[in-house]
Amino acid sequence: MRGIILAGGTGTRLHPITQVISKQLLPVYDKPMIYYPLTTLMLADVREILLISTPSDLPQFERLLGNGSQFGISLQYAEQPLPGGLAQAYLIGEKFVKNQPSMLILGDNIFYGPDLPRVLRSAISRGRGATVFAYEVDDPHRYGIVSFDAVGQAAGITEKPEAPQSNWAVTGAYIYDENAPRLAAELTPSARGELEITDLNRAYLARGMLTVEKLGRGFAWFDTGTPESLMGAAEFVRNVEKCQKYLIACPEEVAFSHGWISSADLRHRSAALAKSDYGKYLLKLHHDVRDKPPNVPASPFPAAARSASAFF
Ligand code: DAU
Repeated sequence: MRGIILAGGTGTRLHPITQVISKQLLPVYDKPMIYYPLTTLMLADVREILLISTPSDLPQFERLLGNGSQFGISLQYAEQPLPGGLAQAYLIGEKFVKNQPSMLILGDNIFYGPDLPRVLRSAISRGRGATVFAYEVDDPHRYGIVSFDAVGQAAGITEKPEAPQSNWAVTGAYIYDENAPRLAAELTPSARGELEITDLNRAYLARGMLTVEKLGRGFAWFDTGTPESLMGAAEFVRNVEKCQKYLIACPEEVAFSHGWISSADLRHRSAALAKSDYGKYLLKLHHDVRDKPPNVPASPFPAAARSASAFF
């Protein structure tokens, strides 16, 4: 299973905030936005990940995330020179995906829900076709919207509809079988000149191969593309973290709980971030587990593959 994070674009809806910095590197309360989709992939057990961004922003992502070994994952990088649409991720990432199933996630999408790992893993285990996740929204004009037939089956998807048939938005996490690069290559640009992810999803729907999974009670989803939604996401994260005393989207914690890094790795990371509450949280985790370390299997990523080089 391969993972792709699409973290390019121009961030124009957040200007002037994003005039000189990538949207996906902005803070969402106590950590960079990119930590959230990255951790969502990790929660789905995806460890081989390609991050796609603009040529000017990519070096910053590499500085922040490196080769992923601190999280027990393998991270590679690829450029998207111009924002040619979300489905272009599969033209850029074709070699990386290598005829395997994959999960694509948008770098500005934040998912939360105790049941999320199970939902994602069960969609991945389906194997054939594609799965998208729908979330009920108040402003359906902003999203890809699913319409349903009389028996509740997905009947169509429309990108930013003028007359929405439902309030169920297609969120920015997509699970595809190995056919995604081939089907993406058959798409033609939309009126706004982009290879639309909605068209790729429609291609699966037309073949009877699309599952739409509703994220209902207990889930929260944010597309952090505007100042209002960015602030809403930050407030949500702050409130949940204050209440629960657990961090949302802490990749080191997910890596440790999966047995992908050791408690010594955790201590090392906490030392590097010691002055922040985030670093203190890692140190506490390390202390809590010191006496009961999990079995850490050898990394599946050979030393050469863990060097900080880009995939392309
Ligand atoms: O967030 C969910 C929505 O995402 C879906 O409901 C829509 O169907 C889907 O088209 C998309 O809509 P957006 O209007 O949010 O797409 P946007 O153009 O803002 O791009 C989403 C993210 O992907 C954004 O962070 C920028 C990045 N991006 C976008 C394009 C077009 C890229 O990295 N490359 C691109 O070529």
